[in-house]
Amino acid sequence: MENKKLIFSGIQPTGTFTLGNYIGAVRNWGPLQDEYNCIYCVVDMHAITVRQDPVKLRQATLNSYALLMACGIDPEKSILFIQSHVKTHAELSWILGCNTQFGELSRMTQFKDKSQRHPDDINSGLFTYPVLMAADILAYNADLVPVGVDQKQHLELARNIAQRFNQRYGEFFTLPEPYIPKVGAKVMSLQDPTKKMSKSDENPNAVILILDDKDTIIRKFKRAVTDSDTEVCYREGKDGINNLMTIYSTVTGKDFASIESEFAGKGYGDFKLAVGEAVADHLEPVRTEFARLSKDKEYLKKCYTDGAEKALKYSQRIVSKVYRKVGFVDKG
Ligand code: TYM
Repeated sequence: MENKKLIFSGIQPTGTFTLGNYIGAVRNWGPLQDEYNCIYCVVDMHAITVRQDPVKLRQATLNSYALLMACGIDPEKSILFIQSHVKTHAELSWILGCNTQFGELSRMTQFKDKSQRHPDDINSGLFTYPVLMAADILAYNADLVPVGVDQKQHLELARNIAQRFNQRYGEFFTLPEPYIPKVGAKVMSLQDPTKKMSKSDENPNAVILILDDKDTIIRKFKRAVTDSDTEVCYREGKDGINNLMTIYSTVTGKDFASIESEFAGKGYGDFKLAVGEAVADHLEPVRTEFARLSKDKEYLKKCYTDGAEKALKYSQRIVSKVYRKVGFVDKG
Protein backbone atom coordinates (compact mmCIF):
# COMPACT_ATOMS: atom_id res chain seq x y z
CA MET A 1 0.00 0.00 0.00
CA GLU A 2 1.08 3.57 -0.61
CA ASN A 3 2.65 5.55 2.16
CA LYS A 4 -0.48 7.36 3.34
CA LYS A 5 -2.25 7.42 6.70
CA LEU A 6 -4.41 4.40 7.39
CA ILE A 7 -8.15 4.51 7.98
CA PHE A 8 -10.12 1.65 9.51
CA SER A 9 -13.82 1.38 10.20
CA GLY A 10 -16.53 -1.22 10.55
CA ILE A 11 -20.29 -1.57 10.55
CA GLN A 12 -22.65 -4.20 11.90
CA PRO A 13 -24.48 -6.36 9.36
CA THR A 14 -28.02 -5.10 9.77
CA GLY A 15 -28.63 -5.60 6.03
CA THR A 16 -29.89 -2.11 5.41
CA PHE A 17 -28.22 0.77 7.22
CA THR A 18 -30.07 3.59 8.95
CA LEU A 19 -29.79 7.19 7.84
CA GLY A 20 -27.75 7.63 11.06
CA ASN A 21 -25.20 5.00 9.97
CA TYR A 22 -25.07 6.66 6.58
CA ILE A 23 -24.71 10.30 7.62
CA GLY A 24 -22.55 9.67 10.71
CA ALA A 25 -20.19 7.18 9.09
CA VAL A 26 -20.60 5.38 5.74
CA ARG A 27 -21.23 8.45 3.60
CA ASN A 28 -17.81 9.76 4.65
CA TRP A 29 -15.93 6.56 3.93
CA GLY A 30 -15.98 6.75 0.12
CA PRO A 31 -14.46 10.25 -0.19
CA LEU A 32 -11.62 9.25 2.18
CA GLN A 33 -10.39 6.61 -0.27
CA ASP A 34 -8.35 9.03 -2.38
CA GLU A 35 -6.49 10.65 0.46
CA TYR A 36 -5.87 7.62 2.68
CA ASN A 37 -5.32 3.88 2.63
CA CYS A 38 -8.73 2.62 3.72
CA ILE A 39 -9.78 -0.66 5.28
CA TYR A 40 -13.49 -1.27 5.90
CA CYS A 41 -15.27 -4.29 7.22
CA VAL A 42 -18.68 -5.79 7.95
CA VAL A 43 -18.44 -6.87 11.59
CA ASP A 44 -20.41 -10.11 11.71
CA MET A 45 -18.47 -11.31 14.78
CA HIS A 46 -19.68 -8.28 16.71
CA ALA A 47 -23.24 -9.00 15.58
CA ILE A 48 -23.48 -12.35 17.40
CA THR A 49 -23.10 -10.63 20.79
CA VAL A 50 -26.90 -10.43 20.54
CA ARG A 51 -28.97 -13.40 19.36
CA GLN A 52 -29.17 -13.73 15.59
CA ASP A 53 -31.01 -16.07 13.26
CA PRO A 54 -28.10 -17.68 11.32
CA VAL A 55 -29.89 -17.64 7.97
CA LYS A 56 -30.81 -13.98 8.33
CA LEU A 57 -27.34 -13.03 9.59
CA ARG A 58 -25.67 -14.59 6.54
CA GLN A 59 -28.00 -12.73 4.17
CA ALA A 60 -27.72 -9.46 6.08
CA THR A 61 -23.91 -9.70 5.99
CA LEU A 62 -23.89 -10.15 2.22
CA ASN A 63 -26.39 -7.31 1.79
CA SER A 64 -24.34 -5.03 4.02
CA TYR A 65 -21.24 -5.79 1.98
CA ALA A 66 -23.05 -4.94 -1.28
CA LEU A 67 -24.56 -1.85 0.33
CA LEU A 68 -21.14 -0.52 1.35
CA MET A 69 -20.11 -0.82 -2.29
CA ALA A 70 -23.33 0.91 -3.38
CA CYS A 71 -22.46 3.74 -0.96
CA GLY A 72 -19.22 4.36 -2.85
CA ILE A 73 -16.64 2.04 -1.32
CA ASP A 74 -14.57 0.72 -4.16
CA PRO A 75 -12.92 -2.66 -3.47
CA GLU A 76 -10.18 -1.73 -5.92
CA LYS A 77 -9.26 1.33 -3.87
CA SER A 78 -9.97 0.04 -0.34
CA ILE A 79 -9.65 -3.27 1.42
CA LEU A 80 -13.30 -4.27 1.95
CA PHE A 81 -13.98 -7.54 3.78
CA ILE A 82 -16.09 -9.55 6.18
CA GLN A 83 -14.68 -9.71 9.72
CA SER A 84 -15.11 -13.47 10.32
CA HIS A 85 -13.02 -14.19 7.20
CA VAL A 86 -9.93 -12.76 8.85
CA LYS A 87 -8.81 -14.77 11.87
CA THR A 88 -6.27 -12.24 13.16
CA HIS A 89 -9.07 -10.13 14.68
CA ALA A 90 -10.05 -12.89 17.13
CA GLU A 91 -6.42 -13.79 17.80
CA LEU A 92 -5.42 -10.25 18.67
CA SER A 93 -8.60 -9.77 20.65
CA TRP A 94 -7.51 -12.46 23.12
CA ILE A 95 -4.17 -10.78 23.75
CA LEU A 96 -5.72 -7.34 24.10
CA GLY A 97 -8.32 -8.78 26.48
CA CYS A 98 -5.45 -9.82 28.75
CA ASN A 99 -4.46 -6.14 28.78
CA THR A 100 -7.91 -4.76 29.53
CA GLN A 101 -9.41 -4.30 32.96
CA PHE A 102 -12.81 -5.61 34.04
CA GLY A 103 -13.54 -2.15 35.47
CA GLU A 104 -12.91 -0.41 32.15
CA LEU A 105 -15.30 -2.70 30.32
CA SER A 106 -17.93 -2.29 33.03
CA ARG A 107 -18.04 1.45 32.35
CA MET A 108 -18.98 1.12 28.66
CA THR A 109 -22.39 2.71 28.14
CA GLN A 110 -23.22 0.48 25.17
CA PHE A 111 -22.70 -2.60 27.35
CA LYS A 112 -24.96 -1.12 30.03
CA ASP A 113 -27.67 -0.26 27.45
CA LYS A 114 -27.53 -3.59 25.67
CA SER A 115 -27.53 -5.62 28.88
CA GLN A 116 -30.63 -3.73 29.95
CA ARG A 117 -32.29 -4.47 26.62
CA HIS A 118 -31.32 -8.19 26.70
CA PRO A 119 -31.39 -9.09 30.42
CA ASP A 120 -31.70 -12.80 29.61
CA ASP A 121 -28.50 -12.87 27.55
CA ILE A 122 -25.71 -10.84 29.12
CA ASN A 123 -23.03 -13.00 27.53
CA SER A 124 -19.29 -12.46 27.88
CA GLY A 125 -19.00 -11.50 24.19
CA LEU A 126 -21.26 -8.53 24.84
CA PHE A 127 -18.96 -7.52 27.69
CA THR A 128 -15.71 -7.91 25.74
CA TYR A 129 -17.17 -6.42 22.52
CA PRO A 130 -14.96 -3.28 22.81
CA VAL A 131 -11.83 -5.47 23.02
CA LEU A 132 -12.68 -7.08 19.68
CA MET A 133 -13.29 -3.60 18.30
CA ALA A 134 -9.85 -2.50 19.57
CA ALA A 135 -8.38 -5.58 17.86
CA ASP A 136 -10.10 -4.66 14.57
CA ILE A 137 -8.36 -1.30 14.62
CA LEU A 138 -5.00 -2.24 16.12
CA ALA A 139 -4.50 -5.29 13.87
CA TYR A 140 -3.85 -2.73 11.12
CA ASN A 141 -2.22 -0.04 13.27
CA ALA A 142 -4.85 2.38 11.94
CA ASP A 143 -4.27 6.13 12.36
CA LEU A 144 -7.87 7.30 11.98
CA VAL A 145 -11.27 5.75 12.63
CA PRO A 146 -14.27 7.45 10.99
CA VAL A 147 -17.31 6.85 13.22
CA GLY A 148 -20.37 8.56 14.65
CA VAL A 149 -20.17 10.05 18.13
CA ASP A 150 -21.70 6.97 19.82
CA GLN A 151 -18.48 5.00 19.16
CA LYS A 152 -16.21 7.57 20.80
CA GLN A 153 -16.08 5.82 24.16
CA HIS A 154 -15.07 2.53 22.53
CA LEU A 155 -12.34 4.32 20.64
CA GLU A 156 -10.99 5.91 23.77
CA LEU A 157 -10.81 2.45 25.29
CA ALA A 158 -8.95 1.17 22.21
CA ARG A 159 -6.40 3.95 22.71
CA ASN A 160 -6.02 3.10 26.39
CA ILE A 161 -5.48 -0.58 25.60
CA ALA A 162 -2.89 0.32 22.95
CA GLN A 163 -1.12 2.65 25.34
CA ARG A 164 -1.01 0.03 28.10
CA PHE A 165 0.36 -2.56 25.69
CA ASN A 166 3.04 -0.12 24.56
CA GLN A 167 4.03 0.58 28.17
CA ARG A 168 4.29 -3.12 28.99
CA TYR A 169 5.95 -4.41 25.85
CA GLY A 170 7.60 -1.37 24.24
CA GLU A 171 6.25 1.16 21.70
CA PHE A 172 4.34 -0.74 19.06
CA PHE A 173 0.74 0.26 18.44
CA THR A 174 -0.29 3.52 16.81
CA LEU A 175 -2.84 5.34 19.00
CA PRO A 176 -5.91 5.61 16.73
CA GLU A 177 -7.72 8.94 16.50
CA PRO A 178 -11.47 9.22 16.11
CA TYR A 179 -12.58 10.95 12.91
CA ILE A 180 -16.01 12.31 13.69
CA PRO A 181 -17.96 14.54 11.25
CA LYS A 182 -18.70 18.12 12.38
CA VAL A 183 -22.31 17.88 11.23
CA GLY A 184 -24.34 14.68 11.53
CA ALA A 185 -22.23 12.77 14.07
CA LYS A 186 -25.44 11.92 15.92
CA VAL A 187 -28.61 11.70 13.87
CA MET A 188 -31.63 11.56 16.15
CA SER A 189 -34.83 9.50 16.08
CA LEU A 190 -37.64 11.10 14.06
CA GLN A 191 -40.13 10.19 16.78
CA ASP A 192 -38.08 11.18 19.84
CA PRO A 193 -35.38 13.64 18.80
CA THR A 194 -33.65 13.38 22.20
CA LYS A 195 -32.70 9.76 21.34
CA LYS A 196 -30.22 8.47 18.76
CA MET A 197 -31.71 7.07 15.53
CA SER A 198 -31.21 3.34 15.89
CA LYS A 199 -32.31 0.27 13.95
CA SER A 200 -33.41 -1.37 17.21
CA ASP A 201 -36.10 1.29 17.73
CA GLU A 202 -39.50 -0.36 18.09
CA ASN A 203 -41.26 2.41 16.18
CA PRO A 204 -40.49 2.05 12.45
CA ASN A 205 -41.41 5.72 11.86
CA ALA A 206 -38.46 6.75 14.03
CA VAL A 207 -35.89 5.37 11.61
CA ILE A 208 -35.11 5.98 7.95
CA LEU A 209 -33.52 2.94 6.33
CA ILE A 210 -31.40 3.86 3.35
CA LEU A 211 -33.16 1.28 1.17
CA ASP A 212 -36.62 2.65 2.03
CA ASP A 213 -38.49 3.77 -1.10
CA LYS A 214 -39.23 7.43 -1.81
CA ASP A 215 -42.83 7.36 -0.55
CA THR A 216 -41.85 5.67 2.70
CA ILE A 217 -39.07 8.19 3.30
CA ILE A 218 -41.38 11.15 2.67
CA ARG A 219 -44.13 9.67 4.85
CA LYS A 220 -41.71 9.14 7.76
CA PHE A 221 -40.41 12.72 7.51
CA LYS A 222 -43.96 14.11 7.35
CA ARG A 223 -44.66 12.35 10.65
CA ALA A 224 -41.44 13.54 12.30
CA VAL A 225 -41.96 14.96 15.79
CA THR A 226 -41.09 18.67 16.01
CA ASP A 227 -42.37 21.41 18.37
CA SER A 228 -45.25 23.84 18.69
CA ASP A 229 -43.27 26.75 17.23
CA THR A 230 -43.47 27.49 13.47
CA GLU A 231 -40.07 28.91 12.58
CA VAL A 232 -37.49 26.78 10.80
CA CYS A 233 -34.31 27.79 12.67
CA TYR A 234 -31.50 26.01 14.50
CA ARG A 235 -31.91 26.80 18.16
CA GLU A 236 -31.42 25.21 21.58
CA GLY A 237 -34.50 23.24 22.61
CA LYS A 238 -35.77 22.70 19.04
CA ASP A 239 -34.39 19.15 18.92
CA GLY A 240 -36.71 17.87 16.18
CA ILE A 241 -36.10 20.82 13.83
CA ASN A 242 -32.37 20.84 14.62
CA ASN A 243 -32.20 17.18 13.62
CA LEU A 244 -34.12 17.78 10.37
CA MET A 245 -31.91 20.77 9.56
CA THR A 246 -28.81 18.65 10.17
CA ILE A 247 -30.10 15.92 7.87
CA TYR A 248 -31.11 18.44 5.19
CA SER A 249 -27.76 20.18 5.43
CA THR A 250 -25.76 16.96 5.00
CA VAL A 251 -27.69 15.78 1.94
CA THR A 252 -27.92 19.16 0.18
CA GLY A 253 -24.62 20.75 1.28
CA LYS A 254 -26.52 23.91 2.39
CA ASP A 255 -25.51 25.54 5.66
CA PHE A 256 -27.97 26.38 8.44
CA ALA A 257 -28.22 30.09 7.54
CA SER A 258 -29.26 29.35 3.97
CA ILE A 259 -31.74 26.71 5.12
CA GLU A 260 -33.28 29.27 7.49
CA SER A 261 -33.69 31.81 4.70
CA GLU A 262 -35.00 29.17 2.26
CA PHE A 263 -37.85 28.36 4.67
CA ALA A 264 -38.45 31.82 6.14
CA GLY A 265 -42.20 32.39 6.26
CA LYS A 266 -42.98 28.78 5.36
CA GLY A 267 -44.34 26.21 7.79
CA TYR A 268 -42.95 22.96 9.15
CA GLY A 269 -45.07 21.01 6.63
CA ASP A 270 -43.18 22.47 3.65
CA PHE A 271 -39.87 21.94 5.38
CA LYS A 272 -40.53 18.29 6.28
CA LEU A 273 -41.59 17.55 2.71
CA ALA A 274 -38.43 19.20 1.35
CA VAL A 275 -36.24 17.17 3.72
CA GLY A 276 -38.02 13.93 2.73
CA GLU A 277 -37.60 14.67 -0.98
CA ALA A 278 -33.97 15.69 -0.64
CA VAL A 279 -33.10 12.54 1.34
CA ALA A 280 -35.00 10.23 -1.04
CA ASP A 281 -33.35 11.82 -4.10
CA HIS A 282 -29.93 11.69 -2.49
CA LEU A 283 -30.35 7.98 -1.72
CA GLU A 284 -31.84 7.02 -5.09
CA PRO A 285 -28.47 6.14 -6.71
CA VAL A 286 -27.55 4.02 -3.68
CA ARG A 287 -30.78 2.02 -4.01
CA THR A 288 -30.27 1.54 -7.74
CA GLU A 289 -26.66 0.48 -7.38
CA PHE A 290 -27.53 -1.87 -4.52
CA ALA A 291 -30.23 -3.56 -6.64
CA ARG A 292 -27.72 -4.07 -9.44
CA LEU A 293 -24.83 -5.29 -7.27
CA SER A 294 -26.78 -7.62 -5.04
CA LYS A 295 -27.77 -9.70 -8.08
CA ASP A 296 -24.14 -10.20 -9.04
CA LYS A 297 -23.26 -12.83 -6.42
CA GLU A 298 -20.13 -14.04 -8.21
CA TYR A 299 -18.64 -10.57 -8.37
CA LEU A 300 -19.45 -9.92 -4.72
CA LYS A 301 -17.81 -13.20 -3.76
CA LYS A 302 -14.69 -12.30 -5.69
CA CYS A 303 -14.57 -8.91 -3.94
CA TYR A 304 -14.96 -10.23 -0.40
CA THR A 305 -12.55 -13.12 -1.01
CA ASP A 306 -9.86 -10.75 -2.35
CA GLY A 307 -10.59 -8.29 0.45
CA ALA A 308 -10.14 -10.96 3.14
CA GLU A 309 -6.90 -12.15 1.58
CA LYS A 310 -5.44 -8.63 1.58
CA ALA A 311 -6.68 -7.92 5.11
CA LEU A 312 -5.18 -11.17 6.41
CA LYS A 313 -1.85 -10.50 4.79
CA TYR A 314 -1.70 -7.00 6.23
CA SER A 315 -2.84 -7.85 9.75
CA GLN A 316 -0.86 -11.09 9.99
CA ARG A 317 2.40 -9.15 9.90
CA ILE A 318 1.27 -7.01 12.82
CA VAL A 319 -0.25 -9.82 14.88
CA SER A 320 2.86 -12.05 14.47
CA LYS A 321 4.93 -9.22 15.91
CA VAL A 322 2.50 -8.96 18.81
CA TYR A 323 2.85 -12.73 19.43
CA ARG A 324 6.60 -12.34 19.61
CA LYS A 325 6.38 -9.30 21.87
CA VAL A 326 4.23 -11.04 24.48
CA GLY A 327 6.60 -14.03 24.57
CA PHE A 328 4.93 -16.69 22.42
CA VAL A 329 7.36 -19.16 20.83
CA ASP A 330 7.90 -18.76 17.07
CA LYS A 331 6.22 -21.51 15.09
CA GLY A 332 9.18 -21.45 12.70
P1 TYM B 1 -22.70 0.36 14.20
O1 TYM B 1 -22.82 -0.77 13.25
O2 TYM B 1 -23.67 0.47 15.31
O3 TYM B 1 -22.75 1.72 13.40
C1 TYM B 1 -21.94 1.95 12.26
C2 TYM B 1 -21.52 3.41 12.23
O4 TYM B 1 -22.67 4.25 12.21
C3 TYM B 1 -22.56 5.25 13.22
N1 TYM B 1 -23.91 5.57 13.71
C4 TYM B 1 -24.42 6.81 13.75
N2 TYM B 1 -23.90 8.01 13.42
C5 TYM B 1 -24.70 9.09 13.56
N3 TYM B 1 -25.97 9.03 14.02
C6 TYM B 1 -26.53 7.86 14.38
N4 TYM B 1 -27.79 7.82 14.81
C7 TYM B 1 -25.75 6.68 14.25
N5 TYM B 1 -25.99 5.37 14.48
C8 TYM B 1 -24.86 4.70 14.16
C9 TYM B 1 -21.71 4.60 14.31
O5 TYM B 1 -21.09 5.56 15.12
C10 TYM B 1 -20.72 3.81 13.48
O6 TYM B 1 -19.63 4.61 13.09
N6 TYM B 1 -18.94 -1.09 17.13
C11 TYM B 1 -19.26 -0.50 15.86
C12 TYM B 1 -18.72 -1.28 14.67
C13 TYM B 1 -17.26 -1.56 14.74
C14 TYM B 1 -16.23 -0.63 14.48
C15 TYM B 1 -15.04 -1.37 14.63
C16 TYM B 1 -16.22 0.72 14.14
C17 TYM B 1 -16.71 -2.76 15.02
N7 TYM B 1 -15.35 -2.63 14.97
C18 TYM B 1 -13.77 -0.74 14.46
C19 TYM B 1 -14.97 1.33 13.97
C20 TYM B 1 -13.79 0.60 14.13
C21 TYM B 1 -20.77 -0.46 15.70
O7 TYM B 1 -21.49 -1.24 16.30
O8 TYM B 1 -21.21 0.42 14.78
